[in-house]
Amino acid sequence: MKNFFVKILIFMLITSCSGEKKQKEVIVPNKAWWKEAIVYQIYPRSFKDSDGDGIGDLKGIIEKLDYIKSLGVTMVWLNPFYQSPNVDNGYDVSDYKAILPEFGTMEDFDALVKGLHERDIKFVLDVVVNHSSDQHEWFKQARSSRDNPYRDYYHWWPAEKGKPNYRYSLFDAKGDAWQYDSITNSYYLHYFAKEQPDLNWENQKVRNEVYDIMQFWADKGVDGFRLDAFQFAAKDTTFPKFPEGFEKDFIQYYAMQDGLHDYLKEMNEQVFSKYDVMSVAEGAGRNFQEAHELVDSERKELNVAYAFDAVDIAKPEGYSFSHFKEVFTKWDKEFSKKGWLSIFLSNHDQARLVSRFGNDSPEFREASSKMLNTFLLSMRGTPFLYYGDEIGMTNINFDSISQYKDVAAINGYKKAASEGADMIKFMSDLNFASRDNGRTPMQWDSSENANFTSGTPWLPVNENHKSINVFTENSNPNSILNHFKKMVKLRKEHEVLIYGDYELLAAENPDIYAYTRTLNNEKVLVLLNFTNHDSSIELTEIGAINEPLINNYSTVEVNKNNIQLKPYQAIIFKLN
Ligand code: GLC
Repeated sequence: MKNFFVKILIFMLITSCSGEKKQKEVIVPNKAWWKEAIVYQIYPRSFKDSDGDGIGDLKGIIEKLDYIKSLGVTMVWLNPFYQSPNVDNGYDVSDYKAILPEFGTMEDFDALVKGLHERDIKFVLDVVVNHSSDQHEWFKQARSSRDNPYRDYYHWWPAEKGKPNYRYSLFDAKGDAWQYDSITNSYYLHYFAKEQPDLNWENQKVRNEVYDIMQFWADKGVDGFRLDAFQFAAKDTTFPKFPEGFEKDFIQYYAMQDGLHDYLKEMNEQVFSKYDVMSVAEGAGRNFQEAHELVDSERKELNVAYAFDAVDIAKPEGYSFSHFKEVFTKWDKEFSKKGWLSIFLSNHDQARLVSRFGNDSPEFREASSKMLNTFLLSMRGTPFLYYGDEIGMTNINFDSISQYKDVAAINGYKKAASEGADMIKFMSDLNFASRDNGRTPMQWDSSENANFTSGTPWLPVNENHKSINVFTENSNPNSILNHFKKMVKLRKEHEVLIYGDYELLAAENPDIYAYTRTLNNEKVLVLLNFTNHDSSIELTEIGAINEPLINNYSTVEVNKNNIQLKPYQAIIFKLN
């Protein structure tokens, strides 16, 4: 048979790897709306500015509700918009029941949730309660004297006992999580910046405050909670010395400490169980067992595990594709019977999807963006998709530290410089991986500042907005944006893409990620070329291949059992 385009049905032999026919197992999925959700994450500072101060705001998001609806997504997660001094762009909360004025008012918030609900879109609140801001009234009180009633809301170490055992801080310019405070001659603990003191979860009063805050927002109609940095909330408050050489092992020694599950169970009782809400925490423990312990339904803690193994694979020097497949495959296998995962490759703490996992060169940006979105929307798990990835937004090319706004970048620079690190390498790594890459303003059209703001944007708009923007994408039926919408629609129309069993094919293929999804008698084949060259795959175990359900090229070459894919080609076939 000569090469031909799949407009015609072709048949391939039905043989299993072992040569035996597989027993058909009827899968009765344990359905839930949050498993079927498609989450769109919005960084409010960067989405749309309605009042010209250069900062995105709630009214701006309201202006774009029809755009959000047009994507087909069913849930919006908004990064924090509470009152905050903004040391860490809102992840330092000074009042959990107030809106930061630059984002708008409580009326704007209510209007936003109403507007989303009118469009059948749910809302996820980001709850930042591993720590507060040092400007929160609780902390102001706590630091004022050792016998203040709020003292035990935080972790303190009296200086007369000497310096506490070392704890690492992710954002501190010296990497030290203990900050000396002269007012009470004590140190306080901050795993993030020194303006983000960690809350003491052992204190029942703290926990009650948090449940009260969560209920306040649930009563306002939020449909989901994302718990920021929550795996670090429980601490061994005797603060023992960690083994030498492992003091900075953030996952091993800082995450998932005793008490965490008690707190989650209590939170579930006090909040989640009283509302129809989705719950997800950032981080999924240190291994599969711990991930299950967070989300298995009989434990009554959280719903969705949000694990970093995959997203952490991308490095400035590239990433191992076989490792990538292996990680997704293992996680899927571990959660195939119980528990539920999120699927994501980008968020506000990562550089841009296409720049890290695809290819942002002019030649391949479009194909590789479509390929990655096809992947995210065809895996088992709730997809969390990040604003701007639907139009293939790329990293921004900052070369001077003065251009960065992120506290992690700025303090990381200070720390590296003080340690005599190779600063050329530091800057080039930052250029690839900085969180600011993923926070540049949304590119709405080709006009000045991409129509994000009429003022001066808080973070520069990427110059490439002249060609990469929503307006241009909307007018081209073959754009990344239209592919994204098609893929969202496809997921919603084919339950197999949500609940179907996942099976990796041709694991050793160095270029192509191939898998099937099967739900009872529905089966689809997903083929994704992760390279910038043509590649092919031999598939002998597949049944009849029909017309592609989606393809980011107009054609595909099939030659008997061999399927040829173009650079970054992504295609899903329905199998008979
Ligand atoms: C989480 C957030 C990140 C923030 C940090 C401290 O990792 O995703 O943006 O800086 O917690 O709150």
